[in-house]
Amino acid sequence: MSTLLEVSDLAVSFGDVAAVRGVSFAVEAGEALAIVGESGSGKSLSSLAVLGLLPPQARVTAGRISFDGRDLLSCTDEELRQLRGEEMAIIFQDPLSALNPSLTVGYQIAEVFRRRRGLDRREARQRAVEAMAEVGIPDAAARASNYPHEFSGGMRQRVMIAMAMALRPRLLIADEPTTALDVTVQAQILRLLRRRQEDGLALVVISHDLGVVARTARSVVVMYAGRAVEAGTVADVFSAPAHPYTRGLMAASPSARDAQRTVRPIDGYPPDITSPPSGCAFHPRCPFAQDRCRTEEPELRTVSPGRTSACHFAEEVVTHDEPLATRA
Ligand SMILES: Nc1ncnc2c1ncn2[C@@H]1O[C@H](COP(=O)(O)OP(=O)(O)OP(=O)(O)O)[C@@H](O)[C@H]1O
Ligand code: SF4
Ligand SMILES: [Mg+2]
Repeated sequence: MSTLLEVSDLAVSFGDVAAVRGVSFAVEAGEALAIVGESGSGKSLSSLAVLGLLPPQARVTAGRISFDGRDLLSCTDEELRQLRGEEMAIIFQDPLSALNPSLTVGYQIAEVFRRRRGLDRREARQRAVEAMAEVGIPDAAARASNYPHEFSGGMRQRVMIAMAMALRPRLLIADEPTTALDVTVQAQILRLLRRRQEDGLALVVISHDLGVVARTARSVVVMYAGRAVEAGTVADVFSAPAHPYTRGLMAASPSARDAQRTVRPIDGYPPDITSPPSGCAFHPRCPFAQDRCRTEEPELRTVSPGRTSACHFAEEVVTHDEPLATRA
């Protein structure tokens, strides 16, 4: 299958502050890629850049974004607006902020069909109800008359998916699609996304939950302080991380492995991107850090086929046999 979305060496800045640097990823039709990392690591900015939806103060300062062979960075606002919805869509991190509280959910979805497909009121309403039913909203015809606040978190998330998928885009970016949902609803939403993927949808899932990542994506990019620090297939990366930060994330994740072990959070906090640490940005928190790490920034390099890591000692980290966490 050919690559649908390819992001190479992307950099996003707020004035002089580099919020994202050297981030690359690619996703094919029918595939799912996950972007993981702590809060502030640049996950949302990387994906907003793809859709041309960066906040007004932010700018893409380097890199290439290509969608189906098209250079998105040279598209006009109008061309991007056209592509959004039709070809690529996003489920925003905060579904409530993306819905208008004063309009019914059915009206808001129907609006997509009216504006983009030129359907009349009745047809558009019918299509909205179908879209809601498709994502498993029970009694969709009646629920279409409800306002966003009348929906539970999980149902609201379904509404967002219905709206994003209304025009059958080929790429969906789901920014934390299951945060704040209970496990059962979470599983339902993930199943829903997987079904769309079977129909050929390319999916980029942003999540801090490694369990979600393991259940949805084939490949993963791990971000730290605006950079990709490790990338590879989920199977490879999760079975033997080649970056200490990935190891730390896994040890800190309650769902990545089995439930019987002690969760061990990563010491310290993510750095302030306005004054990042010297050398490797992870060095103040890294149990593997050596002198060199304080002065020399590691390049993201290939450590094995299909696998990259930005750690000077990736080879040692990947074979390190200390358990990822202490068993309870
Ligand atoms: N509008 C903005 N103005 C200034 N800085 C911003 C703005 N939006 C994001 N940033 C900064 O850019 C960095 C990356 O932000 P981003 O939203 O991509 O993080 P994230 O990985 O999605 O985090 P989270 O998990 O909290 O959603 C952060 O340090 C953030 O403070
Ligand atoms: S380069 Fe050094 S500080 Fe950075 S992750 Fe690797 S060992 Fe840790
Ligand atoms: Mg975010």
